Amino acid sequence: MNSIPDPERESFSSKFGILAATAGSAIGLGNIWRFPYVAGENGGGAFLFLYLGFVLALGIPVMLSEMLIGRNTLKSPVGAFVKLKKGRAWPLVGIMGVSGAFFILAFYAAVAGWTLEYLYQSVTNGFSGKSPDELGDMFNAFREGSWRPIIWFLVFMVMTSAIVISGVKKGIEKYTKILMPLLLAILVILSIRSLTLPGAGEGLRFLFEPDFSKITANTILQALGQAFFSLSIGMGTLITYGSYITKNNNLSSTVISVSLADTFIAILAGVAIFPAVFAFGIDPAAGEDLTFIALPSIFQQMVGGYFFSTLFFVLLAVAALTSTISMLEVVVTYFVEELKLKRKRATILASVLISTIGLFAAGSWGWFENMTLFGKNVFGLLNFTSVNLLLPLGGFFIVIFVGWFMGGKVVKDELSNEGSLKARFWLVFLFLVRFVAPIAIAVVFLNGIGIINF
Ligand code: PFF
Repeated sequence: MNSIPDPERESFSSKFGILAATAGSAIGLGNIWRFPYVAGENGGGAFLFLYLGFVLALGIPVMLSEMLIGRNTLKSPVGAFVKLKKGRAWPLVGIMGVSGAFFILAFYAAVAGWTLEYLYQSVTNGFSGKSPDELGDMFNAFREGSWRPIIWFLVFMVMTSAIVISGVKKGIEKYTKILMPLLLAILVILSIRSLTLPGAGEGLRFLFEPDFSKITANTILQALGQAFFSLSIGMGTLITYGSYITKNNNLSSTVISVSLADTFIAILAGVAIFPAVFAFGIDPAAGEDLTFIALPSIFQQMVGGYFFSTLFFVLLAVAALTSTISMLEVVVTYFVEELKLKRKRATILASVLISTIGLFAAGSWGWFENMTLFGKNVFGLLNFTSVNLLLPLGGFFIVIFVGWFMGGKVVKDELSNEGSLKARFWLVFLFLVRFVAPIAIAVVFLNGIGIINF
């Protein structure tokens, strides 16, 4: 089935705009905050090895599947499955995706709030003269405080909604196009400084030398979750963005460029962080605070540290913003389409609901520290379950759908833009989404949650 483009519906205006928005969604705190700390907790090199394998073999097929569904239907994740009429249960996959976006945004915006605090500290010279230990204490004191993490979280939610209200073209494209290359440049500078610290070699070995004895079922599941999280897949974000992509865009090349860029930035963040972690004697398995201790430590040790750290936290906040926009957009598009709300109302409603849950995540070390379940606070619970459970499940159903229900001809038409591109690999893609991806995701998932045991 092929949809006639709705003249009222917005779309991205250029190839570069599509790339910038999709890469903007993918590149964010997942690369610079989450990848290093999860890799640090899961043994470094072995985790990186699994992560790369999952991006290539599973991430790329899932990503292409999502974009293809979005562009074919021009709908939200729920509307897309309704429109394709392959059974009443499929829209539930869309609903799961929208809920995933909802819960991920709730904790993600809390971390984004941390970047604003760190920007503030940077501007007011708050790191100056502090040792890595003192920086660790400073982070904890901030996070355990009552107001600040919550206020910064709310500020971030307001910024996100303001951009989403103004719409896809004016909002999303404009902000993502300019600042990403700058973030890349500063990460390169940081990596160089980190690599030239005495004792940096050990950090590189930690990141690049796999020690397979460190792999557990949980590590494998975490690597899969992180791969999906970092690529923004498994919850319909790219179904939504795909629905804004024009019919002449080469989807597969967009997907390949975005996943390469995303993976490169994650590795670069690792190269910036781990040498410093070892040089300063920070514990690589420190957890969520790793990036927030290691990077300020590097800034202390470099010429122009004040300038670079301020610029860096501005860029990190922007990278986070282009990701939070994409998450909120999923929920808003759903509200607009299914509840028939105007964009502005839908955005306000979604933001208020998400902020309510997010308050508990942002205050997880302060006011709400006693709200725990299975030994995890609200933040930890949202972080673990949405990333490691919802995203793999979402990815699983999405590839099954494209592989077995969408129809080979539709897939081929989308990949080849109705025959105007060669897309000779479409059979390989079909094979991946029919067999390889669903089986691999299912095995990792069931093994990770302990239902089967390898
Ligand atoms: N990919 C983003 C990051 O790495 O920071 C996070 C993210 C954005 C996850 C959008 C999921 C999503 F739908």
